[in-house]
Amino acid sequence: MRQIIIAGNWKMHKTVAEAVSFVEELKQKNHGTEVEAVVCPTFTALAAVAEALKGSNIALGAQNMHWETQGAYTGEISPAMLKELGVKYVILGHSERRQFFGETDQGVNLKVKAALAFGLVPIVCVGETLEQREAGTTEEIVTLQTEGALKDLTPEQVAGLVIAYEPIWAIGTGRTASDEDAQQVNQSIRQVIAQRFGSAAAEAVRIQYGGSVKPGNARGLMSQPDIDGGLVGGASLKVEDFAGIIENCR
Ligand code: PGA
Repeated sequence: MRQIIIAGNWKMHKTVAEAVSFVEELKQKNHGTEVEAVVCPTFTALAAVAEALKGSNIALGAQNMHWETQGAYTGEISPAMLKELGVKYVILGHSERRQFFGETDQGVNLKVKAALAFGLVPIVCVGETLEQREAGTTEEIVTLQTEGALKDLTPEQVAGLVIAYEPIWAIGTGRTASDEDAQQVNQSIRQVIAQRFGSAAAEAVRIQYGGSVKPGNARGLMSQPDIDGGLVGGASLKVEDFAGIIENCR
């Protein structure tokens, strides 16, 4: 059984004080252990949020990292630095990173390998644009992104990953993929994993859906056989909404 994982991607939102007060409130909701909850604050809030999460069953994630351990990379953060703070998950290859910061499948692959080398769990993002969906190339695009990001990994490494299928046209737009469409793409990703890394890795890898996940649509999405969680942007910024999503996935 794959445990459902709901991760809140706060993007460039929340000061340190706001981040800490959010998790203090979220902790009070006591969501049990059926669903794994993760919050992914900005780099500046990671240390304070790590401290605030101590003793809770909410995990800490980062939104990006560089693949090198250290070096002359102005403005970057390394996997060693995240590990030191108690970060467990790291979102890699989010479409906003690809769109605004030129990230490629090759770069994402370097980051995935570096994260694994430091014991971080990558949340690898893949997803098509609206044009690609309309052209009928969704599965082709998502397959290329998945294969590119996971190149040279072992089946054991793949088994421990989280992949997030996020159709770009559904991110921040209020437009969610239907349960069936999301299931179809998630299933195709699992098939690609099975072909490349074997059935044990495909059975174990957790595949989230992301793109306008809200308390009202979470249950339908998560009840699909190949959707093992959600990567949540907008609705992860309010405790009530984020806790509502977790509650509706139990
Ligand atoms: P959204 O963002 O929930 O606001 O659509 C999802 C994401 O970008 O991970």
